[in-house]
Amino acid sequence: MFTTLDTPSVLVDLDVAEANIRKFQAYCNAHGLALRPHIKTHKLPSLASYQIEQGAIGVTCQKVSEAEAMTADGSIGDVLITYNILGAAKTRRLRALADRVRLSVVADNSETVEGLSEAFADALENLPVLVECNTGADRCGVSTPQDVLTLAREIAASPGLEFAGLMTYPPSGKANAVAEWLQRAVDLLESHGIAVGMISSGGSPDMWQAHEMPLATEYRIGTYVYNDRSLVGRGTCGWEDCALSVLATVVSVPADDRAVIDAGSKVLTSDLLGLEGYGHVMGRDDLLIDQLSEEHGRIVCDGPIGLSVGDRLRIVPNHACVVSNMLDHIELVRGETPQGQAAVEARGQVW
Ligand SMILES: Cc1ncc(COP(=O)(O)O)c(C=O)c1O
Repeated sequence: MFTTLDTPSVLVDLDVAEANIRKFQAYCNAHGLALRPHIKTHKLPSLASYQIEQGAIGVTCQKVSEAEAMTADGSIGDVLITYNILGAAKTRRLRALADRVRLSVVADNSETVEGLSEAFADALENLPVLVECNTGADRCGVSTPQDVLTLAREIAASPGLEFAGLMTYPPSGKANAVAEWLQRAVDLLESHGIAVGMISSGGSPDMWQAHEMPLATEYRIGTYVYNDRSLVGRGTCGWEDCALSVLATVVSVPADDRAVIDAGSKVLTSDLLGLEGYGHVMGRDDLLIDQLSEEHGRIVCDGPIGLSVGDRLRIVPNHACVVSNMLDHIELVRGETPQGQAAVEARGQVW
């Protein structure tokens, strides 16, 4: 299996990734929904460009440095950064970024708004700022529609900024509750004469139900490009839709029911996402990767494991987004044919 490639390596099947991109773009087109993919999954300008070519309106980044890496070659012109950006070191870079691309950001607190305003007060164009709303996922986001109104007014009154709309990272399976929350916020804003331009929602687990929240003007989605074991587990996709896998070699078979591979937590990562085990061994439903140390992955089986030292395994990780950030290079493949290495250009860009 891929005998010309060394292990452990992260494989990305471009045929599958491109098909995933085209399939969800077609869904968004059919439902009149703008698509703004989150690049935190692949961190590759080449795949971001493919997403734009297929019809995406722009990209989502989580960090300023990710956005810098994504826009370096000039092919991406529209970026939303879905993070409270704090501190002059970052807002200075944000200002430089805004000179190159159509940029928008989010905020859920006054400190962030004040910092953004300081950096953009003398800019030629206002920076569009969306209010991040907590519609039930309980991460960032203001807690009530009344808080949306307060922060929207603050943004609108801040030199260099304009209120651009609402953003949420919604809880999975709660489309009705999310829609109701956002509708209350929109109604309150409009009753105070404030127009809501954009409403940005997203997430791969609910991707095929995105049309059930027609209030959203755009959908942000990341994992769908590669898919992973967690999304197969939720029924969002099948194994054949998983574009990213880890190629590993069996380095030890110390017992009849146990083997060890050369991929540990530094490749597969420790993310469980509620699952049992650290990935799915393709073609071997009977195996469980039950334990990782940094460079070793332990595989167990209820009966004889049927593996030999030197065997190669392909593993679909629990969470593709973190795995693609682990190695400097990924191996591109199409089916069984290697296509060369690609540098993961925004890898480690967390500032
Ligand atoms: C703010 C935001 N938007 C969109 C996404 C995309 O989610 P997914 O990878 O489930 O598509 C994420 C994921 O972490 C996120 O944090």
